[in-house]
Amino acid sequence: MTEIFLSLIGFGNVGRGVATILLEKAERFKNKYGLKFRVISISDSKATIWDESGIDLREALMVKEAFESLDKWVHQMSPLEVVKEVESDVVIDVTNDMNAWKWHMEAFRHGRHVVTSNKPPLVFHFTELIQEAYMRRANYRFEATVMAGTPIITLLQESLLGDDILRIQGVLNSTTTFILSQMEKGLSFEDALRNAQKLGIAERDPNMDVSGMDAAYKAVILHNVAFYPVSFEEVRVKGIGEISMKDMEEAKKKNKTIRLIAEIRKGEVSVEPKAIGRDSPLALYGTQNVAVIETDLLGKLVIRGPGAGIRETASAVVSDTIKAVREDLEVGAWNM
Ligand SMILES: NC(=O)c1ccc[n+]([C@@H]2O[C@H](COP(=O)([O-])OP(=O)(O)OC[C@H]3O[C@@H](n4cnc5c(N)ncnc54)[C@H](OP(=O)(O)O)[C@@H]3O)[C@@H](O)[C@H]2O)c1
Repeated sequence: MTEIFLSLIGFGNVGRGVATILLEKAERFKNKYGLKFRVISISDSKATIWDESGIDLREALMVKEAFESLDKWVHQMSPLEVVKEVESDVVIDVTNDMNAWKWHMEAFRHGRHVVTSNKPPLVFHFTELIQEAYMRRANYRFEATVMAGTPIITLLQESLLGDDILRIQGVLNSTTTFILSQMEKGLSFEDALRNAQKLGIAERDPNMDVSGMDAAYKAVILHNVAFYPVSFEEVRVKGIGEISMKDMEEAKKKNKTIRLIAEIRKGEVSVEPKAIGRDSPLALYGTQNVAVIETDLLGKLVIRGPGAGIRETASAVVSDTIKAVREDLEVGAWNM
């Protein structure tokens, strides 16, 4: 049995989802992988709890539920101090902090692996982060940043290694899919957005989704993995704010529908609403995401699955955490 020490930074939806899965599946991880995870620090935006002997995750979940913040419990310690001082094997960043890349860098410098669902570090600091991780022989895993638990990053990183990727087209943001499908049924943009907010599909501030920025972040990450790092300034982004009922009607007459489509080619990234045939794999409904990957050898490959959700995102974070430490372990120790 190998004991793995974890620092969890972010204890919101995804962070609590990860903690819950670690609790629920502790026996399975012991039996299947010979791994015992011990969470030794948890941080939210106000405080950090830190216990080298392992935090009682049930108690941590209860404190957060009851008081909404961990500062009722203990340390005033920033994430930067956590990655320096807490002796964890893996730092899990499930915050939405734009400056989290600094914690990732520092974690690598201290020889720790990093797993994250937080997009901006991968969009704006990809090269330096990948280089630092490589130099320090640390693993950097970020499956959850694109299409939640649907493993498109692993697919691009670990398969198709002899193929040239010609193009990736994807629907990478489910809030916009929901709004556009409601508009197709005759609702105005404003009413569709209100419905999305009521159902918890759109955030209270829906600007990142509606403006196309969230999809653009994800498209940049896919470009960075499939080709090479691209600058975010080079991305052409148009959101769905200007789509009218008339546009929807026009598309309908041609047996088409409008979706926010990300298109990625070598050196080119764009996100914009496009009319697409109803029989296209891109003509999605609900909260799924899809990507159509075109390569010279394989032709077209379609990967479709959940693009958001707590357990769906935590699935990728937990899987990445196992992968991050797996390479340090002996393969023979695994029970299949
Ligand atoms: N939810 C999804 O379906 C989904 C899917 C894919 C990717 N993601 C990404 O996963 C990340 C987490 O999403 P979420 O839905 O869990 O968000 P959330 O519920 O808003 O949780 C964010 C957590 O990060 C903490 N935090 C923010 N800034 C911090 C800082 N400087 N130091 C320490 N903690 C900090 C917050 O603290 P407080 O609790 O004190 O506010 C909160 O616990 C985001 O980057 C999101 O884009 C989410």
